[in-house]
Amino acid sequence: MTETKSKLIHTFGALAEIGQEVSNRKDFHETMRTSLHLLLGSLAIMRGGVARYSRFEHSMQMVAARGLGDEFPLALSLCYEDERQFIANGLYPFEVAQAQVLPFVQVYDNSLGRTRIDLIVPLVIRDDMVGCLFLGEKASGEPYSSYDRDIISAMGRHVGVAIAQRNMLADLERKADENRQLFDNLKTTYKDTVSAFAAAIDCKDRYTEGHSVRVGKYSEIIGAELGWSDDEVEGAAVAGYLHDVGKLTVERKIINAPYRINAKESAELNKHPAIGYEILMPIHHPYADVPLAAKYHHERLDGRGYPDGLYDRSIPYIAKVVNLADSFDAMTTDRPYKRRRPASEVFDDLQRNSGKQFAPEIVNAFFRGMLKELTGEAKEKRFRKLLGREYMEAEGLVPLLRNALNGMAPTSPLTFINSD
Ligand SMILES: [Fe+2]
Ligand SMILES: [Fe+2]
Repeated sequence: MTETKSKLIHTFGALAEIGQEVSNRKDFHETMRTSLHLLLGSLAIMRGGVARYSRFEHSMQMVAARGLGDEFPLALSLCYEDERQFIANGLYPFEVAQAQVLPFVQVYDNSLGRTRIDLIVPLVIRDDMVGCLFLGEKASGEPYSSYDRDIISAMGRHVGVAIAQRNMLADLERKADENRQLFDNLKTTYKDTVSAFAAAIDCKDRYTEGHSVRVGKYSEIIGAELGWSDDEVEGAAVAGYLHDVGKLTVERKIINAPYRINAKESAELNKHPAIGYEILMPIHHPYADVPLAAKYHHERLDGRGYPDGLYDRSIPYIAKVVNLADSFDAMTTDRPYKRRRPASEVFDDLQRNSGKQFAPEIVNAFFRGMLKELTGEAKEKRFRKLLGREYMEAEGLVPLLRNALNGMAPTSPLTFINSD
């Protein structure tokens, strides 16, 4: 009685340990080895192994083995009939000697015989076969009692659950991987489409070649300087690329007019933000509010912009960023009726209009970005690529920028309209 009791305590202790081992979620193979060790140890079984079953490949891979020697196969195939019989048998040990009708036992008769495997336990979890236990004889030489078989079944369930969990995790990882891949593909497609659109918009306007692309790049610089996340910075770039998409519907002769356009033509041209919004609205954009940037990129803080004459805080932030990028590009590129303006004049303009047209902290960020490039703090020469070497190497740009920055500080994201 005492012996039975201590045996019971011992085996239940081992069972609890397997449970703990499985829930610890350590290295899978380590878990399998420890579980096998505990199972063999608790019933004093001479040798054994755990195999993991893949339904797709109809094959089992050994994941842990003890005392099986080198001859035991590392992979074992199952036919459909084997699988059906194993599942029907459930998580209960059966004797190899009694299962000679099984194709599996016939095929591996030699290996099972040579390694002296007595019991096979299909690991069936929720009607799904996830693996198998192979067990040799007990050290005592006694046959397995029904009590032993119950213990083996219980421990096998824990091992089976660990394999099922591992399968589920692998499946999830695979799906997450597929999703990531799909998302990356979509992102690339989106970016390619955006670039193609920007090129199409710029094509129409022969005097401002590359305007959309440059506005995209300036917006990107501003976003990064404002400390935005990578996705937000990318969103700013897209908003810049697409801000003038509405111009696609404006007559070419108005866009390309080599003179100052009249009021009627101007009214026509000024429809482009609203049209851009209509074009972009039905598209799902993964980032910032691209349609709003198109609609409001000609608004001004002082309410004198168009199309809605919005004031400061009613203007979407991304539209303020694009507005500055857009205006800066207009000032620094040649137009049919106007040459590009020198940097000193442009800085002065931005500074004077900060708080009227532009949000001061955005002007500030823009100046900071440029100063960093000029002082070598930023390695990438983005402004130089966009404005040309000559423009960026003009005399006195650094002190001009420093003065401008000093004159503007301190700034707050909550901007009010200047009264002067
Ligand atoms: Fe515009
Ligand atoms: Fe523009």
